Amino acid sequence: MENRSDTIISLGVLVSGRGTNLQTILDRCEAGSIPARVEVVISNRRGAPAIDRAAAKGVPVFVVEPRQYGKWPACKRAYEEKLVEILLSHGVELVVLAGYDRLAGETLLDAFPMRVINIHPSLLPAFPGLGAQKQALDYGVKIAGASVFFVDLSVDGGPIIVQGACPVHENDTVESLSGRILEIEHRILPEAITLIAHGRVRVNGRKVEILPEPVQAQAANTSLSEV
Ligand code: GRF
Repeated sequence: MENRSDTIISLGVLVSGRGTNLQTILDRCEAGSIPARVEVVISNRRGAPAIDRAAAKGVPVFVVEPRQYGKWPACKRAYEEKLVEILLSHGVELVVLAGYDRLAGETLLDAFPMRVINIHPSLLPAFPGLGAQKQALDYGVKIAGASVFFVDLSVDGGPIIVQGACPVHENDTVESLSGRILEIEHRILPEAITLIAHGRVRVNGRKVEILPEPVQAQAANTSLSEV
């Protein structure tokens, strides 16, 4: 998909751990292969490897721990107010939860309505919540995958933007299946960001409609007589 400079979207990425999805986004932004820029990264966990990944690219990183604001869940509002303050002050248009291990609350979602997306390692609505890959193996499904969706107050239940599937093999372990799913995650999260940046995503209740490429974009590769 083409990167059109007029559609660069400003991202704020929330992380808690390893950060391979963050790394993919950072790399794709740097390469200019997705129309986005990571303005800020926030980790709710000190020492998360994702922090170093952001710092290595020169992206501002903040560590905001809920416990700085009191006991969970009483502190959730004050904690999320801090997140919102940081995100807004960095001009963030789209918030990406990339391995963020807290449920988003009203304070964050009200500040960014239909502007918070998450990635989950299952074909939702199957296997929401923790340990999705183990849930899939235990259930005995033959096809697994990943989903990118708009976050609402439910657990992994918001409108689905993009999904990708992969086979489950007879001898799969949680590790081997997770690795196969992760490759899909690294494909579909940038894809979802690109669709949103290009204004091609329309939410209608539970359903997310993917609009066709704008005519103008197609015309760029087409001679006038063909238009
Ligand atoms: C991914 O499997 C993602 O789907 C889930 O948490 C994991 C984060 O991995 N929400 P990473 O931190 O991006 O490597």
